[in-house]
Amino acid sequence: MTAPAHKKIIWRCPSNIAIVKYWGKKGNQIPCNPSLSMTLSEAYTQVELEITDRKTTNGLELTYLFEGKENKHFQTRIENYIQNNMDDFPLFKEYAVRIHSYNSFPHSTGIASSASAFGAIALAILDAQRDNGIYEDEVFYKRASELARFGSGSACRSIYAGYAEWGYHAAIAGSSDNYAIEMEDVHDNFKQMRDAILIVDNNPKKVGSSAGHALMQDHPYAENRFLQANKHVERVINIISSGDYEEFIKIAESEALTLHAMMMTSENYYLLMKPGTIYVIERITGFREQTNIPVCFTLDAGPNVHLIYPQAFAGEVEGFVNIELKKDLKEIIFDKIGNGPEKLN
Ligand code: PMV
Repeated sequence: MTAPAHKKIIWRCPSNIAIVKYWGKKGNQIPCNPSLSMTLSEAYTQVELEITDRKTTNGLELTYLFEGKENKHFQTRIENYIQNNMDDFPLFKEYAVRIHSYNSFPHSTGIASSASAFGAIALAILDAQRDNGIYEDEVFYKRASELARFGSGSACRSIYAGYAEWGYHAAIAGSSDNYAIEMEDVHDNFKQMRDAILIVDNNPKKVGSSAGHALMQDHPYAENRFLQANKHVERVINIISSGDYEEFIKIAESEALTLHAMMMTSENYYLLMKPGTIYVIERITGFREQTNIPVCFTLDAGPNVHLIYPQAFAGEVEGFVNIELKKDLKEIIFDKIGNGPEKLN
């Protein structure tokens, strides 16, 4: 491969929120169960990748900036990512490269940014190496999804708009452990969904997701959990195409609590929920009971709550959040389902 030097490429990749959770991995970021997520739009990472005209003489030469500043922790993670995938990233064997990365959301929210970060990095690198006409778009996105997965498993789903499924499932055509696929059949009810990210606590997590995934290896409930996730993915795909909010709510909330139950019941158990997490969850379910508005909560591997609701009810739900919940939260990010990554230049 010969990449033309002096090229600058800018990609924006959104984060995603899993409805059916990926928790447990094997080998090189192979998931123990399939998962399904909604791609967001406001919470994204933007990566500017510049190929300099300086030829490398002695391996990887990366200058990395995060929001205009050096960041040793991120730099090391990205260098390791590139080194581990050098065969797929021949660009770095030839040229010194600059990467400048920004998040649209504040750092101190406790929101995991690895999905959007590795999505944007994989897209930018692959695009920089993309010789015109060699990759059809479909192949390009599939490869980007696969390469994003090596950085952070859930990143492979951020490459696609709307709803994305990742992980082989016998009943889902085209599904793979290696990359995600976009759900084509989406009912009108699920086309305009919103996600209010309710920041209960913005401290760094005590246990990172890699350590969490590892604890599924000898987990007493692992086998049943993986079976359950397989069933849930199949059901959610049907629900998204049939428009059934009630069923969606049941699975989304069960998945959120199951994820945390897995952490709490592993041999080296731990707890990521805070009192504020339970408080917010109870307020959300109470609001649903009172109003019959189809809202539900979900959780990432952290204490913050994602409140998912159809856009048609945005007025009522956002009024409830601003009036009733805001005073007990550190921050709120109003996000929504998105159209996937975007190339900016
Ligand atoms: O992509 P990772 O390795 O950071 O794992 C993410 C795991 C969850 O966010 C908890 C669930 C998911 O499917 O996104």
